Amino acid sequence: MAAIERTYSMIKPDAVRDHKVGEIISRIERSGLRIERMELAEVTAEQAAANYHHLADKPFYENLIAFITSGPVVKMVISGSSAVAKMRSLMGATDPLEASPGTIRGDMALDVNSNVIHGSDSPENAEREIKLFFGA
Ligand code: TYD
Repeated sequence: MAAIERTYSMIKPDAVRDHKVGEIISRIERSGLRIERMELAEVTAEQAAANYHHLADKPFYENLIAFITSGPVVKMVISGSSAVAKMRSLMGATDPLEASPGTIRGDMALDVNSNVIHGSDSPENAEREIKLFFGA
């Protein structure tokens, strides 16, 4: 059996505004992953910049920061066997046009700019993001 690990995920402001929180949480729980911590909160400008520092030179960066700080998100620590890869697989591709039907983004998002959910892309980034969003 693969190692139990933790990942960081957040339901983005578009999905909170559009009342999609319940469906997304249901999908995560149905997959067998466990929600260890969960909090509704606004992302600060500092957290947004740290979370997306790898995209700072992209043309969509300013929009991305404005979007992720535009309203409350649901921050989560999720655990389980291969939790990082499992969450990425439940989420689907970054661009909802490329995300398979049956994935959260494939079923619930239309636009790469507002793609409903974030999930860490490696165990190292997961631990960094958990600290960034929940503190030590
Ligand atoms: P990225 O870290 O590449 O993807 P993921 O969220 O799947 O880990 O990008 C971070 C976010 O940036 C992405 O969820 C949505 C936004 N984004 C855009 O707005 N336009 C784009 O062309 C890309 C690639 C990403």
